[in-house]
Amino acid sequence: MPVPSIDSLPVLADKLESSKRAAAYRAIDENIDFKTDKVIGIGSGSTVIYAAERLGQYLKDSEYSDLVSEFICIPTGFQSRRLILDNGLKLGSIEENSMIDVDFDGADEIDDDLNLIKGGGACLFQEKLVSTSSKKFIVVADYRKKAPKYLSTNWKSGIPIEIVPSAYVRVSDDLKKLGAKHVIVRQGGSAKAGPVVTDNNNFLIDADFGMLENPAQLHDKIKALVGVVETGLFIDNASKAYIGNADGTVNVF
Ligand code: 5RP
Repeated sequence: MPVPSIDSLPVLADKLESSKRAAAYRAIDENIDFKTDKVIGIGSGSTVIYAAERLGQYLKDSEYSDLVSEFICIPTGFQSRRLILDNGLKLGSIEENSMIDVDFDGADEIDDDLNLIKGGGACLFQEKLVSTSSKKFIVVADYRKKAPKYLSTNWKSGIPIEIVPSAYVRVSDDLKKLGAKHVIVRQGGSAKAGPVVTDNNNFLIDADFGMLENPAQLHDKIKALVGVVETGLFIDNASKAYIGNADGTVNVF
């Protein structure tokens, strides 16, 4: 079955979903060299679902199927493992494929310099491992994610920071000393659930630093704290960002 052209797709009733699909489909169409790329990173979140779906469409197209069936897809967590398998793609591991040709992943916020906040889905460590092991890192996002200029955090969605569980009090205190206005250990769905535990058996802290005029410097300071595994600030890492609009058009930065 030939890959449907983006222009021929049925309109989705939900504008947000349309924007995610448009961004992800175009990102796949324009950033994979089907002849030379072999190892593909598949990130996490609701936008990257459409990237995996698009790759699944290429797999069913006789012109591409032999090449795509040889692709090894590297996941960034449980959800992306399932996305790879559910779309009929070959699952690989970063242990066996430490050099990735192109990685596709979502973002929680994107600034003018393509610095990102990630980790809303609690997968930031693997997402950073995969994106920084990739020759190209392509961000796919909807129109809500582009910051006017600088990244900005707030009480509800701070900078996600993966930490060693026993260090949560110490890291919380240290983050406040660095200027965080609010610091919370991310909790599970219900009051009884307790802290969210990442795929690496760590906790997550969300730290509100307001507007981030120098995210690189803040990343370095947070990363240096004892107990911090990784931050959700992705600095100087993204190659391009595909941002879908409500009308199905896409802006590429
Ligand atoms: C998960 C992430 C996601 O990529 C990010 O939260 C974006 O998700 P969505 O595409 O659902 O908006 O960083 O850790």
